[in-house]
Amino acid sequence: MTVLVTGGTGYIGSHTCVLLLEAGHDVVVIDNLSNSSEKSLERVEEITGKKATFYKCDILDTEGMRKVFSAHKIDAVIHFAGLKAVGESVAIPLKYYDNNITGTLRLLEVMGEFGVKKMVFSSSATVYGVTDKMPLTEDLPTSANSPYGQTKLMIEQILTDLCVSDDSWKITLLRYFNPVGAHESGKIGENPRGIPNNLMPYITQVASGKLAQLSIFGDDYPTKDGTGVRDYIHVVDLADGHLKALDKLDAQKGVEIYNLGTGVGYSVLDLVHAFEEANDLKINYKIAPRRPGDVTVCYADATKAARELGWSAKKNVVDMCRDSWRWQKNNPNGYEA
Ligand code: NAD
Ligand code: UFG
Repeated sequence: MTVLVTGGTGYIGSHTCVLLLEAGHDVVVIDNLSNSSEKSLERVEEITGKKATFYKCDILDTEGMRKVFSAHKIDAVIHFAGLKAVGESVAIPLKYYDNNITGTLRLLEVMGEFGVKKMVFSSSATVYGVTDKMPLTEDLPTSANSPYGQTKLMIEQILTDLCVSDDSWKITLLRYFNPVGAHESGKIGENPRGIPNNLMPYITQVASGKLAQLSIFGDDYPTKDGTGVRDYIHVVDLADGHLKALDKLDAQKGVEIYNLGTGVGYSVLDLVHAFEEANDLKINYKIAPRRPGDVTVCYADATKAARELGWSAKKNVVDMCRDSWRWQKNNPNGYEA
């Protein structure tokens, strides 16, 4: 089928393009390049020997999207495009609401006009808010503690309401846990602008000498070693979840929600030590105060995805650490020469 991938030059989008092309799909990408480089798609072509069609286009640009939908007979959309930095969303909430929510509304409007009514959407475990109920199941109540989280919650609601209003829409909400790792070729990976917010890219930049020291945000949480626990998932496994969701869309009625995680929690210190062992390196770190807004523990119950999509994570923490490091080592400045 022909799949439109919004945000397809980004971290998760580029890995998903690889798997889509390898599975024989035609891939059309739109991205405004606000947080990515078009070069990622050249690398996707190097990996797969196949080309995705790229349009530099904003999801706020209704006319621009109409041109893309006119030029291709799109069968389904995987919707990654969005701003994703939690801290930044607190500082500039209107930009986040406009980009993520208005952008999604415009995309849906154009999809409706062209009769394209199948979508896989990037949601996040952040919609579970603060809860002690671990592992997290899809039926738990949701809440948000940042404008970013609010955008994910609101978009989930909008997509649900749309499916209720018109049963010809089929939409899958995928709630990602903590994506890390990179394609094993070392050609594509996460390419944060400036100083990374997230743990794995921070670790890899300390390993490369780009950053001096990792700050571990809190060692007084009620966990086995006092550091926060997360469900890290390899980005290639995550990408594969999108293909499985796409395969099931035709048979689906309305909205479905799936957690994409491994179901296993690792502490910050676990991940640092796993990285050191997997790559035979030492990571310079210190203990720093807690980061405001961080939850203590967060890991998935991923059995619904296993049962209904036939999907489960295959790669382990050693793969995540090796692949993250290979990408960073081979591309110290990301996609820039
Ligand atoms: P990313 O920033 O690498 O990719 C997002 C892409 O969307 C970028 O290429 C960016 O340029 C593009 N984009 C942003 N606004 C746009 C707009 N208005 N028009 C067109 N393109 C636009 O991020 P990612 O990690 O690949 O995340 C993809 C999706 O998954 C996002 O929606 C994100 O919120 C969600 N998600 C990510 C994580 C994570 O930790 N990486 C966790 C949960 C959910
Ligand atoms: N951490 C550090 N030092 C750092 C960065 C992170 O100790 O320099 C710790 C955090 O305190 C947390 C863990 O590492 O305990 C993971 O932090 P990340 O920033 O990598 O990931 P989060 O779980 O905070 O956030 C991620 C995504 C968000 C998403 C959230 C819930 O980045 O977009 O998961 O899905 F909202």
